[in-house]
Amino acid sequence: MERVVVQAEKLEGDIFPPGDKSISHRAVMFNAAAEGTATIYNFLNGEDCTSTVSCMEALGAKVSSSDGYKTVVVQGAGGAGLHEPDDVLQANNSGTTMRLISGLLAAQPFLSIITGDASLRSRPMDRLVKPLTLMGAQILGRKGGATAPLAIRGGGLRGMEYNTPVASAQVKSALILAALYASGDSVITEPSPSRDHTERLLRAMGARIDSQGNTIRISPLSAPLKSQDVRVPADISSAAFWLVAGAIHPNSRVTVRGVGANPTRTGIIDALRSMGADLVIDNQREEGGEPVADIIVTSSDLYGTVIEGDIIPSLIDELPVIALAACFAKGDTIIRDAAELRVKESDRIATTIEELSKMGARIDELPDGMIVHGTGGLRGALVRSHDDHRLAMTLGIAGVVARGETTVQGADSVDVSYPGFWQDIARLQNIG
Ligand code: S3P
Repeated sequence: MERVVVQAEKLEGDIFPPGDKSISHRAVMFNAAAEGTATIYNFLNGEDCTSTVSCMEALGAKVSSSDGYKTVVVQGAGGAGLHEPDDVLQANNSGTTMRLISGLLAAQPFLSIITGDASLRSRPMDRLVKPLTLMGAQILGRKGGATAPLAIRGGGLRGMEYNTPVASAQVKSALILAALYASGDSVITEPSPSRDHTERLLRAMGARIDSQGNTIRISPLSAPLKSQDVRVPADISSAAFWLVAGAIHPNSRVTVRGVGANPTRTGIIDALRSMGADLVIDNQREEGGEPVADIIVTSSDLYGTVIEGDIIPSLIDELPVIALAACFAKGDTIIRDAAELRVKESDRIATTIEELSKMGARIDELPDGMIVHGTGGLRGALVRSHDDHRLAMTLGIAGVVARGETTVQGADSVDVSYPGFWQDIARLQNIG
């Protein structure tokens, strides 16, 4: 599917981005493995999260939905336990589904096979196959266990001490889930902190997880997880598109409502502020164990900056749209320590540069990032999403601020994390 976006004269209004993808996955998955029934409000009705629902149903949980799939009721299988699925589990495009569920399956005394689409089958899985195997699971995958499909026969796990080579919440979460069902404590240390939604929710469900700096200690469960209702905040990774749009458009005032403001996810706010963006954080509150706020953004003069080091995991998914912001800044923006971008839904260093360059961007490629030379503007062009949801949305926002008209090919990939994205663009431009 193609979408044509025209330059907006003005961007004005309120936006309610959909529910947080990371939290929606975890809310369904952990409640499916828990004892009892839980309601999840503002669930993300995106393809990634519905893949998690299907997998958990195949493992024995009962899930029903209402309100256009935004309210989801999960009846956990925790009492009797998950059961062996009678077919291959399909994670489609979702790395979070495959990696987190693999951790859970590593602890189950049955065989499961999990696969995904062409993009997911090319993404690295050895980062979790190796530690889960050290804990005692048997896992086979293509390329010596490096890629999916993965065949997992779990159970009989031992706790372990492990240093993860990359900061990845997906890997950390898989190991935490396995560790809950192991004999003995486990200690996991990351090179820098990654998002902590898993720890927060599992603690609320009765797990003993202690965090100190980049190290967490997990004790095996002494009783099944207890189901827990979850109110999912708006996804800051989806809000990021409006924060950038509002900052780089010369005539804008946008309020993004109810955004999850967990400090392990707010790197986008720090990065945009360091570029000079006018962002006001308002109405800060806590909902369901997660900080939440409204964010108001107005037209801003941006300057180049350096984004590197420990901040990277807290804005990893936002780097394509930050690169777009940097095109509109004065001076150069340097992004490094972000080699992980190469193994996301697409090689986001290569695809971001390839597509923004078609619109007049000047960007140099680095092995672990890029140098964006601010040019002050872009021109409309024919661009494509490479079937990557975040690239499709970055290009949509580029179309809103570029001169003339932009056509985004593969526009339907936004359904992975933000099904109403194109409608929201039209609404903010007052053309919807
Ligand atoms: C996610 C973690 C991040 C992120 C992804 C969602 C999660 O991936 O890029 O979109 O929900 O845990 P990594 O763990 O691979 O860094």
